[in-house]
Amino acid sequence: MGKFLIFGIFFLFFSVSTARPHNENGHGNKFLSCFALNSPVPITNISSIIHNTSDPSYPSILQSSIQNLRFNSTTILKPCFIITPEHFSHVQAAVNCSKIHGLEVRVRSGGHDYEGLSYTARNPFVIIDLVNLRQVRIDLENGTAWVQTGATLGEVYYKIGNASNTYGFPAGTCPTLGVGGHISGGGQGFLMRKYGLAADNVLDAVIVNARGEILSRSSMGEDLFWAIRGGGAASFGVVVEWKIKLVPVPPRVTGFIVSKTLDQGATKLLHRWQQIADKFVEDLFIRPIIIVTKGGNNSTRNILVKFQSLFLGSLDQLLPLMERSFPELGLEAKDCREMRWVESILYIDDGFPSGESLEILLDRKHNMNKGFFKAKSDFVTKPISENDLENIWKVMEEGESGIMIWEAYGGKMGYISETETPFPHRGGVLFNIQYYNGWAQPGNDTETKRLDWINKVYDSMAPFVTKNPRTAYLNYRDLDLGRNKVGTFSEAKVWGEKYFKSNFYRLARVKGEVDPENFFKNEQSIIARRIPVNTKSN
Ligand SMILES: Cc1cc2nc3c(=O)[nH]c(=O)nc-3n(C[C@H](O)[C@H](O)[C@H](O)COP(=O)(O)OP(=O)(O)OC[C@H]3O[C@@H](n4cnc5c(N)ncnc54)[C@H](O)[C@@H]3O)c2cc1C
Ligand SMILES: *[C@@H]1O[C@H](CO)[C@@H](O)[C@H](O)[C@H]1NC(C)=O
Ligand SMILES: *[C@@H]1O[C@H](CO)[C@@H](O)[C@H](O)[C@H]1NC(C)=O
Ligand SMILES: *[C@@H]1O[C@H](CO)[C@@H](O)[C@H](O)[C@H]1NC(C)=O
Ligand SMILES: *[C@@H]1O[C@H](CO)[C@@H](O)[C@H](O)[C@H]1NC(C)=O
Ligand SMILES: *[C@@H]1O[C@H](CO)[C@@H](O)[C@H](O)[C@H]1NC(C)=O
Ligand SMILES: *[C@@H]1O[C@H](CO)[C@@H](O)[C@H](O)[C@H]1NC(C)=O
Ligand SMILES: *[C@@H]1O[C@H](CO)[C@@H](O)[C@H](O)[C@H]1NC(C)=O
Ligand SMILES: *[C@@H]1O[C@H](CO)[C@@H](O)[C@H](O)[C@H]1NC(C)=O
Ligand SMILES: *[C@@H]1O[C@H](CO)[C@@H](O)[C@H](O)[C@H]1NC(C)=O
Repeated sequence: MGKFLIFGIFFLFFSVSTARPHNENGHGNKFLSCFALNSPVPITNISSIIHNTSDPSYPSILQSSIQNLRFNSTTILKPCFIITPEHFSHVQAAVNCSKIHGLEVRVRSGGHDYEGLSYTARNPFVIIDLVNLRQVRIDLENGTAWVQTGATLGEVYYKIGNASNTYGFPAGTCPTLGVGGHISGGGQGFLMRKYGLAADNVLDAVIVNARGEILSRSSMGEDLFWAIRGGGAASFGVVVEWKIKLVPVPPRVTGFIVSKTLDQGATKLLHRWQQIADKFVEDLFIRPIIIVTKGGNNSTRNILVKFQSLFLGSLDQLLPLMERSFPELGLEAKDCREMRWVESILYIDDGFPSGESLEILLDRKHNMNKGFFKAKSDFVTKPISENDLENIWKVMEEGESGIMIWEAYGGKMGYISETETPFPHRGGVLFNIQYYNGWAQPGNDTETKRLDWINKVYDSMAPFVTKNPRTAYLNYRDLDLGRNKVGTFSEAKVWGEKYFKSNFYRLARVKGEVDPENFFKNEQSIIARRIPVNTKSN
């Protein structure tokens, strides 16, 4: 009965409003009425769910989670609509109606995509922004949680920490990352040596597919469930919810940060770290961040190395362990801080200054440092010699800024087989590298210089990283790796093998099965081997 009433109201509304101008893409009210008619759950206020370009809140919603300001430019095509679903069926209606009206779809969770693929497109499109679907339901009895994909990692961490002192979740360090993109692309962080990636700890998922059907693990089948845990869900559908496995952590953990300049022996320490960091006990994770510090100290060299660490145990246990495993670092109690696991998230993110509240984790804009940036990634399987490190520093020091982050692998990361999930960077990997250069002001001069820096550093690293293919991490998305447009299977293979090695072929097969018409696409989405001629070139 309710449905007929709603139908009546919308019929009236749209028969009156058709006289008004359609929006610039001519999709205006037809899309709205399609959406309203398709929605099984009565929509009390459609203007809080669909935002067109004349909606006063459109710009703020669009810009709200743009992390890389390079893609906040006024010259970039804007979506016809931003849809902010409040119910899973709204996601289905958005998919069904976009297809009917020939609009592409971009899905946004936390908006941290390095190349802006969750909110930009070259053809008329809509954004499905999951910001209002962010319930987190913790089930302590079973050690699991259902997490809607609009939630940020910070929201998940906060809820876990609020429910328990002895559970955690292995995922990234930045609390504002969205669980939609992050988990579906892998998700590495300080617990990965003990528990693997975020994607390795997914037990179930709910997805809306290209036909607008809503499926869980049992109905989507193991192939699709495999694909969305590391293959990037954007190629396959809209994940609306994950069931994740919580992992045990001790009530107290210990973090430390130790910084060394080149004069203080940073090169030797990094050389040593490469020999041992993947072999430490799994409770110990240490990552160096190598920072160009031009304009800081007036020293002859301009590199600072900051060792950041998390140990799943007390300070009393950590000090003798470090004395045995990495005495060269000279760790002292004053460099360390004992705390709850949930606090360690903020310790790593912003130092967790005294007086800071854990509620900060719920702030979707906390410490976002919005700016312009470019990043790239590599994997290393053989230690780099001191001599070679010295040469790398010289290349890095030619820039005004820039960093490299080296994330230690080994432990659980090495026990999981390359084909278990689409993320293939497992046994034999010593560490992952992220190259990152950020800048605060727009302008071609700066951008050109920064891109030059990152390309030169990346080129100089070629001899020391994986080859054929030179592998990369999907979540550090890099459009330089392959053609910067929706392409063909053989074009996709170029970047696909770098992110996924031979798992790319299984991903392409799954794509052919679940989305043969290539409805879910972007500049780096999986392409089936054979796709219908009429959807081929975009
Ligand atoms: C400051 C910063 C810190 C980071 N730290 C880490 C880190 O510690 N570890 C790490 O592994 N990575 C890290 N990353 C990379 C991060 O994991 C990726 O950028 C990730 O894709 C972000 O997810 P998101 O939901 O925030 O992004 P979005 O931009 O919303 O989405 C990224 C991609 O996933 C798709 N997508 C999003 N939600 C869904 C969904 N529900 N269904 C289907 N497709 C979806 C989007 O369409 C897009 O293609 C960091 C990034 C930044 C900017
Ligand atoms: C946007 O939607 C409102 C109703 O929600 C409508 O009045 C207006 O004409 C629409 N604008 C465009 C450009 O479609
Ligand atoms: C409908 O939602 C819009 C946007 O959220 C809001 O401005 C408006 O007041 C709401 N109208 C009603 C009747 O609730
Ligand atoms: C994004 O661009 C708009 C102009 O289109 C501007 O008003 C806004 O301040 C920009 N956002 C940020 C965070 O700089
Ligand atoms: C979308 O389409 C699918 C497949 O036809 C159908 O099962 C579903 O009910 C539709 N849902 C909505 C909300 O439009
Ligand atoms: C734990 O899991 C079982 C089996 O799935 C379920 O029946 C039970 O309700 C769960 N416990 C809680 C507290 O949700
Ligand atoms: C959980 O949050 C509530 C307030 O929302 C607070 O009173 C309580 O102390 C928190 N519990 C823990 C263990 O953090
Ligand atoms: C500056 O030099 C001092 C002493 O060598 C060192 O402790 C500090 O970390 C350096 N700072 C930077 C930014 O290089
Ligand atoms: C840096 O050191 C050089 C040489 O010692 C000196 O000439 C210069 O003035 C110093 N610059 C600053 C900013 O201290
Ligand atoms: C940057 O360069 C592009 C292409 O060369 C040009 O179109 C644009 O106007 C430039 N923008 C600025 C701010 O200089």
